Amino acid sequence: MEFPTTGLPAAANEAADSPADPPADPPADCPLCPRLVAFHRANRMAFPTFFNAPVPSFGPTDGRLLIVGLAPGLRGANQTGRPFTGDYAGDLLYSTLRDHGFSRGTYDRRADDGLELVDCRITNAVRCVPPENKPVGAEVSACRPFLARTIAGMPSLQVILALGSLAHGATLAALGQRKSAFKFGHCVVYALPEGRTLVSSYHCSRYNTNTGKLTTEMFHSVFGTIRALLDG
Ligand code: URA
Repeated sequence: MEFPTTGLPAAANEAADSPADPPADPPADCPLCPRLVAFHRANRMAFPTFFNAPVPSFGPTDGRLLIVGLAPGLRGANQTGRPFTGDYAGDLLYSTLRDHGFSRGTYDRRADDGLELVDCRITNAVRCVPPENKPVGAEVSACRPFLARTIAGMPSLQVILALGSLAHGATLAALGQRKSAFKFGHCVVYALPEGRTLVSSYHCSRYNTNTGKLTTEMFHSVFGTIRALLDG
C-alpha cells in the first residue's frame, strides 16, 4: 500500500505557531501528518485490536532523565500504546533501565504490566507509527512542538538520552540548538543550556544489536554514564 509523503497542511504550521502552548502529547485524532493518519487508518483495519494512535509519553514528569526514541514500532508501541513496549528494542531498553535503577516492577511487554519508571520518562521524536519505521522530515518537524513541550514539562530534567541520530537531531531542534554544533555519535555527551546534558546512543533496535553496531555492554555503559551524571 502507498502512503503519500505530502508535507504539512497550512493548519499544521499555524497550530505549531499559535500563541497557545501545544499539549505535550498529541490528541488521539491528531491530523498533522496525512501519511501517518492514513497509515493509522489502514492499521485499524488490519490490526483492529492494536492501539493505532499517537503514543503518549510514559513515566513521571518530575524525572531527571528523559529518553527520546524514534517512533512507535508497528507491533510494539503502536500495538500496546506505551513507548518501546512489545518489541525487541523495548526488551533491551526496559531490562537496562531495571539494571540501572530506573524502574520498579516487572516489564511484561504490556502497557498494563504495572511497571513504573523511576526518575525517568520515555517519549518518541515522532508519536505515530510510520510506514517501514521511517518518518519523513515533515513528520519529524510536525511532532517537534510535542517534544519541546514534553521537555518543558519536566522541571527537574537534567539528562536527555537520544536513541539514534534522528532522535538526537529532533531533540536539538526542539531545544532550538544547531545540529552542526552537536555531532551524533555513540555515547557522546554534550552540555546543553540550563545546566542540562545531552547523551546520545546508537538506537537499541534489533538491527543494531544483530549487526554488532550496538552491544548490550555498550548500551549499559551509556546508562553508567547517565548514572554518573545524575548522582556524581
Ligand atoms: N519503540 C518506540 O516506542 N520507539 C522506538 O524508537 C522504537 C521502538
